[in-house]
Amino acid sequence: MRNRCTGPSGGGMLNGVPERIHEVTAFLAEVLGPRAPLTVIVDGGDHGAAASFAACLAAAFPPSARAWTVDAVLGLSGPSGGRSDSALNVLEPAADRVIVYLRSGPRGRGLANGEGERRAQVVIDHHDPEWPVIRHVHPRLADPERWYLAESRAFFGARAAGWDTKFGDDLPAYAMAVEVAAPRPGDLALDVGCGTGRALPALAAAVGPQGRVIGLDLTPAMLHAARQAGREAVADLVIADARRLPLPDAVAGLVFAAGLVQHLPDPGAGLAELARVTRAGGKLMIFHPSGRAALAARHGRTLRPDEPLNRENLEPLLAATGWKLLRYDDPADHFLALAERA
Ligand SMILES: C[S@@+](CC[C@H](N)C(=O)[O-])C[C@H]1O[C@@H](n2cnc3c(N)ncnc32)[C@H](O)[C@@H]1O
Repeated sequence: MRNRCTGPSGGGMLNGVPERIHEVTAFLAEVLGPRAPLTVIVDGGDHGAAASFAACLAAAFPPSARAWTVDAVLGLSGPSGGRSDSALNVLEPAADRVIVYLRSGPRGRGLANGEGERRAQVVIDHHDPEWPVIRHVHPRLADPERWYLAESRAFFGARAAGWDTKFGDDLPAYAMAVEVAAPRPGDLALDVGCGTGRALPALAAAVGPQGRVIGLDLTPAMLHAARQAGREAVADLVIADARRLPLPDAVAGLVFAAGLVQHLPDPGAGLAELARVTRAGGKLMIFHPSGRAALAARHGRTLRPDEPLNRENLEPLLAATGWKLLRYDDPADHFLALAERA
């Protein structure tokens, strides 16, 4: 088991630690340091990962602060890591305790039903131990403005080049979703969080030569992959944050958002921004090319009632942000929620 803060030699290293681990642990140390006295518990991840990450986190605290800011940085590394025999089953977050959970998917040691994540104030994607990425920090610990943009880019940037190879089979599902959304010929259609632009050809065909399609994404590597795939021929590609779109009010006839809403730190604020740029009667298509339960299973967890795309949560959230839900489908092979701008 590795329980020291070490990494392989080579490029991208800082003081013997992969630079990405350093970035993540340095940020957490900065956020957690002033909250002394504190116990930080690291759990989840593959075998030994919690102890190893905890060691890196402890090392990230400045030497002068270590003695008094952090009582203990524990990496739980029992026989099953974060499974049923883990201390996470008895520990709840407390004012002087922070749980950092390493998400590593079905083969990892984390709680398979998402309990580890539910109890954690910090969730880190740990599929690649050399490239950990922060996916959640409780807003009481840090304003999302401090980490969300950079960490989202780190997460999706690392996946951009292989995205279409991995998920290319899904294109007919995107065409089906665009058909259901039925933008008018001549409309402006936005694909927000467009990634490599898999929906763009279908959107361009639907709005026709008089229409216009803009793909927006905050990850430059995703838009680069979209250009490489030739999708600039059918749409303008713009680097933009869905929470602050560089567009005037009420210009779009359709907003297409595939795999976006669940990644926003404040889904309600995001939906309100999508409503701002959509004309009355315009549509919002929230889509994913697999059903929610199937996707959760792929990630090694079960669905939780508090997820924003649960119908019971989504319908009132849409209503509160200027949308009326028209249709909600969630079979195994796709997720689709179609709403109309009120
Ligand atoms: C799961 S991927 C889906 C990509 C594409 N829509 C697809 O279905 O293949 C999510 C995409 O949303 C982008 N994204 C995440 N948060 C965003 C935000 N706040 N603003 C714009 N894009 C965002 C990511 O960069 C990533 O490309």
